[in-house]
Order: sequence, then structure tokens, then C-alpha cells
Amino acid sequence: MTATPGPRPLVHVVGARPNFVKAAPVIRALAAAGVEQRVVHTGQHYDEALSGVFFAELELPAPDLNLGVGSGSHARQTAALLVALEEAFEALRPALVIDYGDVNSTLAAALVAAKLQIPQAHVEAGLRSFDMTMPEEVNRRVADAFADLCFATSADAVDNLRREGVPAARIHLVGNSMIDSLEAVRPRLDPAGARKAVGLSDAPYGVVTLHRPGNVDEPARTRALVDGLAASAAQVPLVFPVHPRGRAALEAAGLTGVSGLHLVEPLGYLAFLSLVAGSAVVITDSGGVQEETTILGVPCLTVRPNTERPVTITHGTNRLVEPGELAAAVGAVLAAATALAAGPAAPGQPPKRPPLWDGRAGERIAAVLVDWLRDRTAASAP
Ligand code: UD1
Ligand code: UDP
Repeated sequence: MTATPGPRPLVHVVGARPNFVKAAPVIRALAAAGVEQRVVHTGQHYDEALSGVFFAELELPAPDLNLGVGSGSHARQTAALLVALEEAFEALRPALVIDYGDVNSTLAAALVAAKLQIPQAHVEAGLRSFDMTMPEEVNRRVADAFADLCFATSADAVDNLRREGVPAARIHLVGNSMIDSLEAVRPRLDPAGARKAVGLSDAPYGVVTLHRPGNVDEPARTRALVDGLAASAAQVPLVFPVHPRGRAALEAAGLTGVSGLHLVEPLGYLAFLSLVAGSAVVITDSGGVQEETTILGVPCLTVRPNTERPVTITHGTNRLVEPGELAAAVGAVLAAATALAAGPAAPGQPPKRPPLWDGRAGERIAAVLVDWLRDRTAASAP
């Protein structure tokens, strides 16, 4: 790759499913502000259902570069990311690198930018599970350590950064760009169509997503989880779009052939959110899904011992459960919904919403970046 001439662009680094959802609103707002930008797709996710469909449905511009790093162990994948991103940054000469969330592509972008002395911004800074067994916790800590601009989704994230000694001037509480994407597509959601497409009847149903190493890499826990899903599916039909990571482990633990459990391939963004919006309960270990259910007002049972997103509990619908508690928790959610439906019509309460999760985070991030670019240009003027 040879260096491109012209003004130095902002360079977004995205690689995995949740990155695309978080980046789309930022890219859109920067385009509206006329800022020069490029999109680098690392290729960490490459299946159409985990990548291409998001570019189409979120109306993202095609990536300027796709590095095609693919899958591998943490070391192999990260090594490939480091080599490919270094070449990409040398060619693109970014004014600033922007990375998103907590995946391996995020960590690699942060490390390469730091070594090349390129300023960098981290979108979704400051979240902490305080659980170093999670690869995501390692990734997000590295990204925050090097970020010149930390864009936080919630006050607890700001507190975490301050406690770690990040200067206040670097931290910007801007809200949640993943929720911007949700609000942008909300008018296009079609719960009835999505339900029909996966073969569900009109009766209440639940949605499941599980892919975290903590749940699918330890056979005893995976078995307990599948038992919990089976006991839950006996109460309400469940549809489970199975992420490729963990499919084999879940199947070995008995996932196939469970009555009431509909296994499907990973769904596109619109189909998935449509299903969630129409569901009675969601069972998940996803970070993003904890946030989306909070805004959609759907009860969320997160099968994890902790969450880096406590605001989804204090200001949302989320609750942490262990696999052994799952079936009882599903029963309690269904009973509460039945009691509510049978009770006297009360004035509807809109779902609680964390502050600034209002669909405008991308605009706030773009405004900070435009100011940053202006200050930088002024500082380098003769
Ligand atoms: C990654 C993130 C995780 C995030 C998830 C979002 C890391 C360490 N983990 O997990 O934080 O929640 O993305 O979905 O970055 N595979 C395919 N097709 C693809 C991509 C992957 O089949 O397009 C399979 C491969 O067998 C691969 C496995 O999934 O080995 C894991 O992929 P990888 O990107 O390493 O991690 P995820 O589990 O997807
Ligand atoms: N999602 C999707 N199809 C699916 C499952 C999830 O479009 O079958 C979306 C979901 O709405 C959210 C994002 O993918 O926007 C979350 O990604 P994931 O759970 O893979 O990653 P995490 O948020 O845990 O890092």
C-alpha cells in the first residue's frame, strides 16, 4: 500500500458485528459535517450474516479497505490485525483513529495507533466488568489507556475512567451510538413479519443469544445453560439465532432437538431487532442486546455473573441470572406480564431510559471531533 495524498482523514476501524452498529451513526454525522473520513474493515467478521448485512441495513458506506484478517486464536488474530493495521495507517495517514467497543480489532487499532503516534478516540470508553477472564475487558482497558478522546455512554463509565486517572478533559459523556442505530431503524421494525419468518405462531415467545467464552467454552456450564434453556422453552417458545462461536459446544451439550427451541442462523439487524421488539423475554450474554432491550422495554435476563453495563439494570430491564436460575426467572417474567395484562388499565409507563440514550450520540461525537480537528488545525498553523 502506498501513502495517499491530500488532507489527513479520520479513520474508523471496525471489524465485528457490534462495531458496525456503533460506528454507523458516527460516520453519518461526520459525513453531514463534511469531514474527510475513511472506513477500515479488519475482516474479523466476514460472513454475510455477521458483516455485509449490517453495511446494507445501516446504510454504511462500503469500507475503503478490507484487511481480511479472518479468524484465529487470540494471538494469531491479533498479530494479523497489528500487521495489517500498521500498513493501512501508513497508507491512509490518519489525523485520528476511531475505534469502537471491545473486540480484538479495537485493541489492535489502539495499539498500532499508539506505536505510530497517531491520536485516537475510543467510542464506548470506560465500561468495566472488573472481570479479567473476559477478553473484552482486556481489549477495552487497552483502548482506553491510549485514547486521547474517550467517548462514554454512561456516568458509571466516566467514574471508572476518572478513578483510573484519565484526565477529565479527555472524557466526553455523549450517550450511546448503538441506540442511535436502533432509533434510526425503529420505524422499519416488523415484529409480526420477523416472527412469521422464523416459524413462530402469534403466541408470546422469547429470544436467545449466547456466544461468550464464559458460557460456551466450559462444558459443565454449557450443559447447565442448555438445561436452563430447555426448562424455559417448556414455558414459552424460544428462538435462538446461533452465533458461529459456540455452536459446536452448545450442540454437544444437547441444544438440538429441544422441544420449543427454534434454532436459526444469525439474523440480520432488522430481523433480529424486530424479533426482540415483539418478544416477551430475552435471554442473552451479549453486551449490545442488554442495551437494546432496555430501550425496547423488553425484560432481559443476562446469563453472566457480572455486567460492564450496570446502567441497563439501574435504568433498564436487565437482570443477571445464573444458568440454574434461568427457568424460574423466565417463569417470573411471564407471570408478571400476565398479571399486568389482567389488571386494570393503568396509564402506560414509557420504558426507563439511561440519560443521553436518545438517538443523538453520533451527532455529539461528531461535534467533539469537529472541534478537535479545528483546534488541531489552529495549533499547527504557522
Ligand atoms: C467477537 C468479539 C466479542 C463480540 C463478538 C460479537 C473478540 C475477542 N470477541 O467474538 O467480544 O461479542 O465478536 O459478535 O473480539 N466466525 C465465523 N464467521 C465469521 C466470524 C467468525 O464463522 O464471520 C467463527 C470462527 O469460527 C471464529 C469464531 O467464530 O473462530 C470466533 O470469531 P471471533 O471474531 O474470533 O470472535 P467472536 O466470538 O465472534
Ligand atoms: N444482532 C443481530 N443479529 C443476531 C444477533 C445480534 O443483528 O442474530 C445484533 C444486535 O441487535 C446488536 C449486535 O448484533 O446490535 C450485538 O452483537 P453481539 O451480541 O454479537 O456482540 P456484543 O454486543 O456482545 O459485543
